[in-house]
Amino acid sequence: MASARLRSAALVLALLAAGAAAWPGKKDDSIEAQLARWVTAKGGKLKGFKVGQECPTCLRGVIATKDFKPGDVIMKVPFTAVMRLKDVHHPAFAAEYARDLLDAMHNDPAHNATWDLFWRAHPGPEGTFTPEVYTDEQLAMLQTPELEALVAGQRAVTEQVYDGSYPYYSYRPFNETVGEDRVSLDTFKYVASLLGSRYFGFYRDGNTERPSSHLVPLVDLINHADDPNAERSDDTVNVLVKAINPIAKGQEITNSYQPGVIHRPDMSLYIYGFVIDREEPYLAAVDLPTFNAKDPFEQTPLLDNLYDAPGGKYVTQEELSRLRGLLAGAETTEEEDRARLDSGEVADWRIRSILTYRVMRKRALRRTIAKLEASLAASAGQGGSGGSGPAAEEQAAAAPQGQQAADEGEEAGGQEAEEQDIDEIDDRSEL
Ligand SMILES: *[C@@H]1O[C@H](CO)[C@@H](O)[C@H](O)[C@H]1NC(C)=O
Ligand SMILES: *[C@@H]1O[C@H](CO)[C@@H](O)[C@H](O)[C@H]1NC(C)=O
Repeated sequence: MASARLRSAALVLALLAAGAAAWPGKKDDSIEAQLARWVTAKGGKLKGFKVGQECPTCLRGVIATKDFKPGDVIMKVPFTAVMRLKDVHHPAFAAEYARDLLDAMHNDPAHNATWDLFWRAHPGPEGTFTPEVYTDEQLAMLQTPELEALVAGQRAVTEQVYDGSYPYYSYRPFNETVGEDRVSLDTFKYVASLLGSRYFGFYRDGNTERPSSHLVPLVDLINHADDPNAERSDDTVNVLVKAINPIAKGQEITNSYQPGVIHRPDMSLYIYGFVIDREEPYLAAVDLPTFNAKDPFEQTPLLDNLYDAPGGKYVTQEELSRLRGLLAGAETTEEEDRARLDSGEVADWRIRSILTYRVMRKRALRRTIAKLEASLAASAGQGGSGGSGPAAEEQAAAAPQGQQAADEGEEAGGQEAEEQDIDEIDDRSEL
């Protein structure tokens, strides 16, 4: 008797646990739950995760509700549930995506019939932060003239595409296609910002030169980690997310966004709108000795070992002075920016992103200066000779990694680099 009762109690507990694990629950009518049902109805397989927050203040993300081992499929989202953006071929890409999508939303009745739910599941205007939506005040907070020029340039392109004055491609003004009364400039900027920071490139139609761009439900909710436990791929029919490391129930499922971009505080801010607070940040792309304003989106492989060894090309007094000048030229110090960030007075996540950028940029400069000083001292000790062997090897090892990411072009925002064209730089002169 007693043992039977115990057994049935155990069974009830097991059922409860299983019920808790099955996401979305029947009564869950959150937009994410509706989206998951929609993807499943289209043939998707979603098993063993839920969309939620790992902690009350954490970002929305994807959390395992069971254990996974490497190779397990976590999500399978068919391309029929993936919104393909119209191909564009010039550097105003985010604004062009917005233009084509808004046109379809307003003028093609079939569009909303298919995509309305997925569209509504996206973050609203308060949830994106790329150049299109910067205010002048936010722009001035960057304290980095090259970055300000890039952000202002991309914002201007967005405005030009909207009003039809974009000089490199002739568009009918938006007011004559969709109508300003239906889509304001602010809405247009928000849509461009959303699309530009969230699309994924996939090589479809046998075109291996340039990926086409897509919005992928649920997969786009997976957050970045430097040391991810899952990776994304596609088998031409489905977008897949598979575990690459063991994942325990309750753990957040993570993916690595473009290495070499996400690690540069300025590029991460520019493309994604956030900056990861790191102990050992990489230099901002604009601060690299190799930064080229004519091609700012060139993928920057993680080559901060430029300064590591005595005898390297950039291990020079001139480079040391240049870096010191950049740090000394900032209007506020790293400590001041950090104090403001930690004061609890800044609630706006966009301002927090900018402040984090400023701290990371200065921290990277400070650390690089120290490294360069040590390398110069070692060079002096060696009578200035050689020693470039290990540095060169490390660079060779680091380069393919960054380049591979560039070639794959698979991450959200991944095409920015490729879209850039020297002739048109002035207008994007760029999260
Ligand atoms: C499609 O949906 C959008 C926003 O969700 C709305 O603004 C637009 O008016 C809809 N289009 C049509 C043709 O109803
Ligand atoms: C649309 O905007 C352009 C540029 O601002 C203006 O010249 C044009 O007259 C407007 N067209 C309509 C139909 O309002």
